[in-house]
Amino acid sequence: MLREPDVLAQLMRRKPAHSLPQDLYCDPGVFQVDMEKIWYRQWLFAIPACEVPKTGSYVVYEVGAYSVVIVRGSDGVIRAFHNSCRHRGSVLCKTKKGTNPKLVCPYHQWTYELDGRLLWARDMGPDFDASKHGLKPVHCRTVRGLVYICLADHAPDFSGYEAEAKRYLAPHDLENSKIAYETTIVEHGNWKLVWENNRECYHCSGNHPSLCRVYPEDPLAASDEIEGNLSDILSKHAERCEAVGAPSKFRISDQGEWRFIRIPLLGTAESYTLDGKVAVQKPNSSFPFKDAGSLHLFVYPVSWNHFLSDHSIVFRITPIGPMETEVTTKWLVHKDAVEGQDYDVKRLTEVWNATNDEDREVVENNQRGILSPAYEPGPYSPTHEQGNIQFVDWYAKTMIDAITGPRAVAAE
Ligand code: FES
Ligand SMILES: [Fe+2]
Repeated sequence: MLREPDVLAQLMRRKPAHSLPQDLYCDPGVFQVDMEKIWYRQWLFAIPACEVPKTGSYVVYEVGAYSVVIVRGSDGVIRAFHNSCRHRGSVLCKTKKGTNPKLVCPYHQWTYELDGRLLWARDMGPDFDASKHGLKPVHCRTVRGLVYICLADHAPDFSGYEAEAKRYLAPHDLENSKIAYETTIVEHGNWKLVWENNRECYHCSGNHPSLCRVYPEDPLAASDEIEGNLSDILSKHAERCEAVGAPSKFRISDQGEWRFIRIPLLGTAESYTLDGKVAVQKPNSSFPFKDAGSLHLFVYPVSWNHFLSDHSIVFRITPIGPMETEVTTKWLVHKDAVEGQDYDVKRLTEVWNATNDEDREVVENNQRGILSPAYEPGPYSPTHEQGNIQFVDWYAKTMIDAITGPRAVAAE
């Protein structure tokens, strides 16, 4: 089991533009360092805000050792708290989601306001100070209908992302959406393999028959340094969308942890459906045309998203173990869209349900092959796998900075 100095050494001597050394995909010690240095420090997409629509609606989000309650207050504000009672630590919310007027601990019924204040605790004596026993807050921001949390004591600056998300997501009415369908699958693969598979479409033609009907396998979204025809296609599409007020051009953060780009789908396709036509008749965007393509957003280490003219799909990954990752997919449609009338769930979800399952299989094959003693890091395709190079570079830099940097020292 590797420890921090070993992880650092492996990262420092990795081969550039190659997949990572074996241990980084399977070692339990690396998994722990990943959790502590990345997952417990970065901003994480938790839920779409529409999942907690009313006062008292809550969702529990579990990340590694942490359990977090995300709840909407009577003032409409969404807040996050550690799901651990301030009496003797019991889990406060036992179910994954629900609605309660107050947060009541199931153990001895300490009762908390939706903003975390302790309201009531029976027979705690005259010296008990309820104000010192409120729920411990977790950093929480809602950006254009998407809720992010950060488990760190001092959250990294999120303002750059917030500003761009406000612009890029403006045409997509996520605040007035609802979850039409959601799935959670477990992939027997390291979370970084899930990302690597997501960041390239080199595997698409051989594995995704449904997706390939509407999605171009060209590396459209991998980089802004695309030359020739692809660049023309992207620019024309971006200009057409920007002319109707929808920011679309490639935009990546300085550290590379998030990226926006709106890309056209294949040919005349409008949405991720088998016939390429929209899946939802009542759209949750303001586009005056249907073939707006897909606004692709990734936010490392936790989510990738597709925002279309008619609906949106948000994906969230959560590491469960060194070789186990949960992938949750939520299809968001306009809140007034009526199932069976404006959309059909099977039609809405079949392309990405199939694609998720196909991706699970390739990730699991990848993991199994990496476990062979014969595995050694292999080269990424400079044409198709620029996204992988970007991801592993981000991962290595983020880990090295976190292990060696001043914040790492301060935390110890
Ligand atoms: S542990 Fe919550 S009320 Fe006792
Ligand atoms: Fe895939």
